[in-house]
Amino acid sequence: MSTVEDLRPVPVMLGGVRGGPDARTLRRDRWWATPTVTVTFLTAFVVYSTWAVFQNAHYYVGAAAHRDLISPFYSPCLTASCVGGARGALFITWWTISPGILVLGGPLGFRLTCYYYRKAYYRSFWRSPPACGVADGHGSYSGETRFPLILQNVHRYFFFIGLVFNTILTIDAIMAFRLPGDGGIGLSIGTLVLVVNATLLWLYSLSCHACRHLCGGNVNQFSRHPLRQRIWRFLTPLNARHMQLAWASLVFVALADLYVRLVASGAFHDPKIF
Ligand code: FES
Repeated sequence: MSTVEDLRPVPVMLGGVRGGPDARTLRRDRWWATPTVTVTFLTAFVVYSTWAVFQNAHYYVGAAAHRDLISPFYSPCLTASCVGGARGALFITWWTISPGILVLGGPLGFRLTCYYYRKAYYRSFWRSPPACGVADGHGSYSGETRFPLILQNVHRYFFFIGLVFNTILTIDAIMAFRLPGDGGIGLSIGTLVLVVNATLLWLYSLSCHACRHLCGGNVNQFSRHPLRQRIWRFLTPLNARHMQLAWASLVFVALADLYVRLVASGAFHDPKIF
């Protein structure tokens, strides 16, 4: 319902200040809801994931529990200190703190430089600007054309690093079908959790803008590149859902760690489906 306040003309100065105390917006809707939700969920994820990778415990459920489940935050487990069964063929002997810290850089760099997350955290944390039609929280704007934000251009390379992690986590999901001492091969809730996690991560990567450009960009005539056109047509609908896939994969990777953590700590036993 309109109020007298709503109907009163709001002075607008074209070409006026960028931000600061005089900045105003004509928007009457709840434009602040999206940045608030973004800050809440991203902060919660950063706090949980930081806590989890520094725990250096309860990241693997092994043969003693008739399972082969590793937390995505600790895979690949590269150090000699990794618990038996979790360790890969290559391992590092000089690293004595949590092995989770070693694998943090790849996925973190991929997410941090993602085009969608950039928009999300520029708007919500830096208020630059908080929403369309809302004044910037800062008086100046230098964009991504100079240091340090020009480094965001490395996203196309982090895309390939992300693919390496997706492959490793897919292998983990396949290995989770092993139920040692409990029938050999089977399916448990833990197996499903790792399969869904790997699937969401692949969907997130395949919906990446850099991936779509890599497959279908720089082509003047699709008729001369039918394979690239087919791939591009497959990726484009995924790309349109990149934001949803970014959030779904982010939330689920934390849930997958939490599930493995609870089973490994003995909070409950991973139920077998067959
Ligand atoms: S744009 Fe988001 S992962 Fe590449």
